[in-house]
Amino acid sequence: MKRVIDEGPLWGVELLWGPHEVPSGLGAVRGFEEIAREYDRGRRGEAVEFWAKETARLAHLDGESLVLDLGCGTGIYALGIARGTSASMCGLDPTADMLAQAKAKSKAVSWLNAVGERIPIRSGVLDCIFSSQVWHHIADREGTAEECLRALRPGGSLVIRTISHEQLRRKVVFTYFPEILSHQLEVYPSMEDFDRYFGDVGFASIEHLSYALERYQLPSELIEIAERRLWSMFRPITPEGLERGVSELRRYEAGHPGRPIRNDETITLVVARKPKETPSICR
Ligand SMILES: C[S@@+](CC[C@H](N)C(=O)[O-])C[C@H]1O[C@@H](n2cnc3c(N)ncnc32)[C@H](O)[C@@H]1O
Repeated sequence: MKRVIDEGPLWGVELLWGPHEVPSGLGAVRGFEEIAREYDRGRRGEAVEFWAKETARLAHLDGESLVLDLGCGTGIYALGIARGTSASMCGLDPTADMLAQAKAKSKAVSWLNAVGERIPIRSGVLDCIFSSQVWHHIADREGTAEECLRALRPGGSLVIRTISHEQLRRKVVFTYFPEILSHQLEVYPSMEDFDRYFGDVGFASIEHLSYALERYQLPSELIEIAERRLWSMFRPITPEGLERGVSELRRYEAGHPGRPIRNDETITLVVARKPKETPSICR
């Protein structure tokens, strides 16, 4: 049976701390406050149902499972997993404006204003932590890995949805906006980085599963995403780089009216498990 909270204890267990007790320097994330209301317009092409099913399969979710979406943003994936499984879902995000969008969509999920570096959930409670397109925004990744290990039950799974460097190098969007690729390669953790974050704190059997889902997007959709900076990758672009990419997309549009561009959803799931034998740190 699904368990939900609005205020107060989560799944019958008191939270460890409230939203105002985050360490200084952490909290709402710049850039996301400004785009929170428009954020979902840039995510229409994602196969949420597929990722929810894949998470359920990899983490063996069932009606008893307690799942956290870490960095849930506007709740797209927390709600997708809630719809696609019988697990009880909770979404956590430090940016109140993003979380406000999630809260407005559904009360079927419990929403927490908090940071990954300080998950307010007691040790050993969660069956799965899912996290989509978040780790490149996290300030203290080692600390967050440690928190994930603490909050998971022995044998619990961490499922990270990210883009590998190899996938970034082949992304079609960068053929139009090449100047942002080098920045993305600096910002996104590599697979070796993930192995280190999770291996160092004691996760076992860390796997990288690579996917390419066929996807077509109209040039007008990509232009809107770029101009409104709906994907954070567009934040550092220069006016000239933006102008050049938009002009090329407009040229394509004029030459191929109504024809979308193939821009596959290339994703890597990093899956790590908390060892069954490791005693959790008690708080
Ligand atoms: C690109 S959005 C992804 C949102 C959602 N997971 C999705 O895939 O649509 C990144 C989110 O990570 C959140 N975030 C940034 N730093 C974080 C941290 N330290 N802990 C948890 N979430 C964080 C941001 O507030 C933002 O909502």
